[in-house]
Amino acid sequence: MFQTRLTDAFDLDHPIVSAPMAFAAGGKLASAVTQAGGLGLIGGGYGDTEWIEEQFRQAGNAKVGAGLITWKLAEQPQVLDKVLACNPAAMFLSFGDPSPFVDAIAEAGVPLICQVQTLRDAQHAARAGAKVIVAQGAEAGGHGERRATFTLVPEVADWLRAHAPDTLLLAAGGVADGRGLAAALMLGADGVLVGSRFWATEEAHVSDAMSDAAIAATGDQTIRSSVMDKARFLNWPTRYTARVLRNAFTERWHNDLDGLMAQAEAQSAQWIDGWNAGDPERANTFVGEAAGLIHDRPTAHEIIKNMVADAETLAGSAASWIKSPRD
Ligand SMILES: Cc1cc2nc3c(=O)[nH]c(=O)nc-3n(C[C@H](O)[C@H](O)[C@H](O)COP(=O)(O)O)c2cc1C
Repeated sequence: MFQTRLTDAFDLDHPIVSAPMAFAAGGKLASAVTQAGGLGLIGGGYGDTEWIEEQFRQAGNAKVGAGLITWKLAEQPQVLDKVLACNPAAMFLSFGDPSPFVDAIAEAGVPLICQVQTLRDAQHAARAGAKVIVAQGAEAGGHGERRATFTLVPEVADWLRAHAPDTLLLAAGGVADGRGLAAALMLGADGVLVGSRFWATEEAHVSDAMSDAAIAATGDQTIRSSVMDKARFLNWPTRYTARVLRNAFTERWHNDLDGLMAQAEAQSAQWIDGWNAGDPERANTFVGEAAGLIHDRPTAHEIIKNMVADAETLAGSAASWIKSPRD
């Protein structure tokens, strides 16, 4: 079993946290991850407090946390108190400046996890008081930015070791199996944040058609784009795009934002209809490059069990299989 600073700090069996995926990660998924020995997070997304409270009820007694999209929280800061009243095991903020919310989260005695996409934002979040930094690479499903996991994680690890040694680090973006977990620990992370792999589980709120589309796709078939946000009239800051499966909608509009805006009402209605129907042809499937590593839709428990077992085998036998060419 991997014992890391993360498992010690959150009293976990495994250094695995499930991502707070908007719409997809409800109480059922979060509690399943926690019961399997990881830390499950509810995807509070844009801050629908009724939905969030219902997900905490569904999680029952399992110790789960919740995530919110920071720029959206800044527009409706009252949401934070309602989520903190649900007694989350951790509060996860991503995509915006966390500092206005740090004090309220600390006063509630809740550990703060901040997901970042650059070294600069990692430094800012650590200085602001985050207990855990999640370094998210561009491979990730859903929203993110441009840096790759493979260099961002060790760069943030080095900085934290030198300047904020008590702050923990998770790697996110492309971690979908035991190889990813082992590699993340090698890169200097205390654990992993896994989204796409948990998205394709029995417990996630995802339509069969969308998970089938992701299972059939390779990592080549994803794209980072903002056209899905335009179609939903969401005011995402321009630095963030989202990784989704390509479809006719992204093919048509990705390079023609002005054209999309010229027909915004009609295109939006079609996209949202498709989204509500869970149709991967009309709306986009939010999943990362890990789509190419996802071939089934098991339970969260099976994913954690296999990820940990494979990572342990790899780590335990590394000395024997990493040989120089002359051996
Ligand atoms: C369907 C989906 C929805 C997501 N929604 C959110 C979200 O609401 N807030 C957030 O901070 N991150 C969100 N993410 C990003 C995750 O937090 C995480 O960084 C990402 O899933 C990690 O990469 P992976 O998908 O390769 O595991 C989402 C990811 C996916 C796949």
